[in-house]
Amino acid sequence: MRIVAEVTARELFAPLGPTYDRYARLLSFGQDPRWRRFLVSRIPRSAIRVVDVATGTAAVAIELAQAVPQRTVAGVDQSPEMLAAGRARVAQAGLADRIDLREGRAESLPFADAEFDALTVTYLLRYVDDPVATMRELARVVRPGGVLAMLEFAVPHGVWRPLWELYVRVGLPVAGAVVSPGWREVGSFLGPSIRGFHERVSIEQVWRDAGISDVRARRLSLGGGMVVWGTT
Ligand SMILES: C[S@@+](CC[C@H](N)C(=O)[O-])C[C@H]1O[C@@H](n2cnc3c(N)ncnc32)[C@H](O)[C@@H]1O
Repeated sequence: MRIVAEVTARELFAPLGPTYDRYARLLSFGQDPRWRRFLVSRIPRSAIRVVDVATGTAAVAIELAQAVPQRTVAGVDQSPEMLAAGRARVAQAGLADRIDLREGRAESLPFADAEFDALTVTYLLRYVDDPVATMRELARVVRPGGVLAMLEFAVPHGVWRPLWELYVRVGLPVAGAVVSPGWREVGSFLGPSIRGFHERVSIEQVWRDAGISDVRARRLSLGGGMVVWGTT
């Protein structure tokens, strides 16, 4: 089961690296960068060593480094293709001396206990078999009292729900298909993945079960995104 999830996420993201940033923004109606900014604002400026898990093309890692000049950021992702696009982006931003991207799995991070002051993670939990065990592993590498913050898609409530359903059932698959076969796959996959995940799992409860304290959450953009944060 673990291997199936790994292969699926790997296959899904392998063709997306070079076009990921442009279309992620387009398919989220331009909300994606706003959500990332709010995520990064949850990390105290005093956090100097930060790790960004499921870093992909390093958008969050770059924003973390740009926010605090003396900060160093480690970015981890299981996809070499996404990381290749991330390295090009980091070099272009002139941040190669402060951002280190490396291949690794969130379920088993290549770091010692308490190595970082804070951690960010974006759009990961839907891809792992055991969300509580994965959150425990993420918390392991953060020092006691350090902050963890996560961005994930969410399902809007009330009148916005039918519009969201229309978008993920029709708009997103069609828009994805127009872009490329890789994005068609993502466009069809995302709606059921987000809906199914939130039916099965309460993110805040997962965090508490993983031993994370002071767990808080904020829904963004009519509930289409959510940021959760807490302390180790
Ligand atoms: C939707 S992308 C998000 C990338 C980036 N965080 C952003 O916001 O642009 C999800 C990323 O999670 C990575 N991923 C999925 N499962 C993973 C796992 N178990 N361990 C590490 N990375 C994983 C994928 O390779 C992909 O780059």
